[in-house]
Amino acid sequence: MIDAKGMELLFHRNRQWAEDMVARDPAFFSRLLHQQSPRWLWIGCSDSRVPANQIVGLDPGEVFVHRNVGNLVHPGDLNCMSVLQYAVEVLQVEHVIVCGHYGCGGVKAAMEDSAHGLIDYWIWSIREIRDRHQTDLDHVPQERRVDALCEMNVIEQVERLSETKILKEAWSRRQDLQVHGIIYSLADGLIRDLEVSAGARGDAAPAMRLAREATLARHAGQ
Ligand code: CO
Repeated sequence: MIDAKGMELLFHRNRQWAEDMVARDPAFFSRLLHQQSPRWLWIGCSDSRVPANQIVGLDPGEVFVHRNVGNLVHPGDLNCMSVLQYAVEVLQVEHVIVCGHYGCGGVKAAMEDSAHGLIDYWIWSIREIRDRHQTDLDHVPQERRVDALCEMNVIEQVERLSETKILKEAWSRRQDLQVHGIIYSLADGLIRDLEVSAGARGDAAPAMRLAREATLARHAGQ
């Protein structure tokens, strides 16, 4: 059964939004109709509190978006790889951003050993990061461990991204393209740079190592 009231609210809000956009910029929709040229590809979490465009103040047309639980980059994920290829090769975006967020439910679930059903297959790779850095994470106070793993997860995804054939090929033809890892705080609405940006093949690894050390030290209170 369709929740008519819920849907009515959406249609009402949509009409209002479209009117506001035209009031602000009469050519807005006709311009977007003929061209899509975003400079950013955003790979973020599906969490409803982390909408890509809104938190960085961008309008429709400015950011190409892929979201999934835990902001993961799987080279075997046809959805994510198709978005990446289209963004890099057709739209020619200049920046690919992996945006995580503190308190991520996917990361929390990966931190626990209990079973959650189908999602366990999806977050398996976050568990792998947790296990690989278990000793270091043990030095982080319990209450900060999920947030530390949220950061480690973003760093890992940026590394995976820079290892994809799509990015390696773009960099070997000297395409102007950078990857970045950032994290969003639900508490204050601010994003923080994890300093893993890379703009060429081979740039990524040293930055990732430093960023991992910085994350672990910061959360361990050192
Ligand atoms: Co999340």
